[in-house]
Amino acid sequence: MAKVVVVTSGKGGVGKTTSTAALGAALAQTGQNVVVVDFDVGLRNLDLVMGAERRVVYDLINVVQGDAKLAQALIRDKRLDNLSILPASQTRDKDALTEDGVARVMGELREKFDWVICDSPAGIERGATLAMRHADLAVVVTNPEVSSVRDSDRIIGLLDSKTEKAEKGERMDKHLLLTRYDAGRAQRGEMLNVEDVLEILSIPLLGIIPESEEVLRASNMGSPVTLSNVNCAPSRAYMDAARRLMGETLPVTIPPERRGLFSKFFARRAA
Ligand SMILES: Nc1ncnc2c1ncn2[C@@H]1O[C@H](COP(=O)(O)OP(=O)(O)O)[C@@H](O)[C@H]1O
Ligand SMILES: [Mg+2]
Repeated sequence: MAKVVVVTSGKGGVGKTTSTAALGAALAQTGQNVVVVDFDVGLRNLDLVMGAERRVVYDLINVVQGDAKLAQALIRDKRLDNLSILPASQTRDKDALTEDGVARVMGELREKFDWVICDSPAGIERGATLAMRHADLAVVVTNPEVSSVRDSDRIIGLLDSKTEKAEKGERMDKHLLLTRYDAGRAQRGEMLNVEDVLEILSIPLLGIIPESEEVLRASNMGSPVTLSNVNCAPSRAYMDAARRLMGETLPVTIPPERRGLFSKFFARRAA
């Protein structure tokens, strides 16, 4: 049975697109058949992050409107056979996505793939509610700062009211993915710490992704970070998050402060 996941947040620039690409790739790396779907009509960026931008011919709107078949619009990843992307259009406006059309396409995707991962636009408007509408579970991407946590809280409200699951009286599974976490800044009190965020949002923690230049490097190369550098800290965190999505129980480690290693070393020498 396919699982539809929405990667959502309310706030922009928190790491939704990065996380969609990385989680999608990580699931595919474990052998799952995955499609990532770009709902951010107008800001076509999932294809860029995945390095597929030059191969886009048809997009989600074409398929929703019946101008192209799903198979014509799906782009297979050049590195992984079992990873595909359904891109969004850069030019046409978001009203081109009709509810019925999206429902039909999601139904078709469910039949073809094990995982359908939907990258949501920022905001709480129609685009975001369309992206979450058919989800079985939600990954709420949040940065450890007040405005991001507040917007995530608002999104949780929408997930519990505006989705098909909510309308059927079922519970939407929600998982918190804390991204761009900077241990040093958290320790200095410049960012919220993990407990603060968990207490405010009170949804289970899927993972903590450290702030890392590796993520930017991967994005500039047009590759999900889990494919460009399997062993860096953000990749390991995304791989673990993907395994938790598949139902494994793994302890979440809070990324250590880099300087912490030195201070530990000096503390030992001093002792
Ligand atoms: N863990 C991270 N470390 C460093 N930069 C990151 C990290 N996650 C995301 N970014 C950067 O933050 C910016 C916004 O990320 P993006 O995924 O496009 O956010 P959104 O889709 O929520 O708008 C991008 O430049 C991306 O490379
Ligand atoms: Mg985005």
